[in-house]
Amino acid sequence: MKTAFITGITGQDGSYLAELLLQKNYKVYGLKRRTSTPNFENIQHLKDDIEFISGDLTDASSLVTAIRHSKPDEVYNLAAQSFVGESWSQPILTGEITALGVTNLLEAVRREKPDVHFYQASSSEMFGKVIETPQKETTPFYPRSPYGAAKVYGHWITVNYRESYDMFACSGILFNHESPRRGIEFVTRKITDGVAKIKLGLEKELRLGNLEAKRDWGFAGDYVEAMWLMLQQEHPEDFVIATGETHTVKEFVDIAFKHVGLDWKEFVVQDPKFMRPAEVDLLLGDPSKAKKRLGWKQKVDFEQLVKMMVESDLEKYIRERKG
Ligand code: NAP
Ligand code: GDD
Repeated sequence: MKTAFITGITGQDGSYLAELLLQKNYKVYGLKRRTSTPNFENIQHLKDDIEFISGDLTDASSLVTAIRHSKPDEVYNLAAQSFVGESWSQPILTGEITALGVTNLLEAVRREKPDVHFYQASSSEMFGKVIETPQKETTPFYPRSPYGAAKVYGHWITVNYRESYDMFACSGILFNHESPRRGIEFVTRKITDGVAKIKLGLEKELRLGNLEAKRDWGFAGDYVEAMWLMLQQEHPEDFVIATGETHTVKEFVDIAFKHVGLDWKEFVVQDPKFMRPAEVDLLLGDPSKAKKRLGWKQKVDFEQLVKMMVESDLEKYIRERKG
């Protein structure tokens, strides 16, 4: 039986990855930070099958203890301050978690279990003000937010530990991926939650920022499979994971409202509060390397993703209404 240690287990990706690894018969450990109220929404159904270890990415000693205790074959570093918008309000904390936190974890692995296969959650936000389109593994980075800058550091320190210490450390450069378990402040979930509330008469409008931004959106359940595949290869390498399609926020809004028979123009209000100091206008990934070398491919397309998320939010509010 293989053993995996996942940071960020309570998040969107952590929950899908834990599901996948449990299906594959892994023993799964998850790093859980202390919170004043329980935060198990995404992993409620898996809680009894995961062994939680208390710790924080900014507390190096807790990571050493976690690796010593779990003795993992594979480590997936999914924890981060992951909301780009918030990274302007908390730039230092974002750097401490999303950048230096990676070094804390790599050091713990190097000292306690250097033969680990290590996965770092890198991001298409690193491409920022894109130098070329589509973006691939060799495209230079130009981050546009404190979050993007922190991810660039996390990416390069992973490459550096691979080259300095011959560690099996990989970085997955993942483009946006969404699901019904997506945090509510991210634009896709904010839209589908808003559509469900408007449809059920619980809200009258949906306030959004830049509707022209373009993203390459996939389904999180498909993307965690790529993480696992990267750690099963003979040699550690970095991969872009994307759909190869890009859509505007406006297109997402249009499909989501149409799915419940409404016209978005009657409900969406543009609010400068949700505009960013520097924007990433266009992301479009080229997943050819992952398709060829990992045999990875997406199963859920853009329209299916939007509809899946709207349906899930509708069901949630209908359930709540019934009590
Ligand atoms: P998410 O839902 O925001 O989850 C983030 C996780 O990190 C949560 O479990 C959170 O715990 C944990 N965390 C935050 N600060 C921590 C700290 N100081 N110590 C320990 N844990 C901490 O993010 P996600 O969408 O699943 O993304 C997973 C990873 O992939 C992140 O690194 C993200 O930056 C990266 N990424 C995401 C995407 C995407 O489109 N989703 C694309 C590219 C890269 P709490 O529950 O306690 O807050
Ligand atoms: N959050 C949010 N809220 N975004 C809005 C809104 C709004 O009301 N209105 C428009 N947008 C636009 C943002 O300006 C951005 O261009 C786009 O919608 C997507 O925003 P988010 O959903 O917040 O995601 P992100 O692309 O900034 O970052 C996500 O993807 C990255 C990968 O490229 C996060 O998951 C990151 O952690 C991840 O690395």
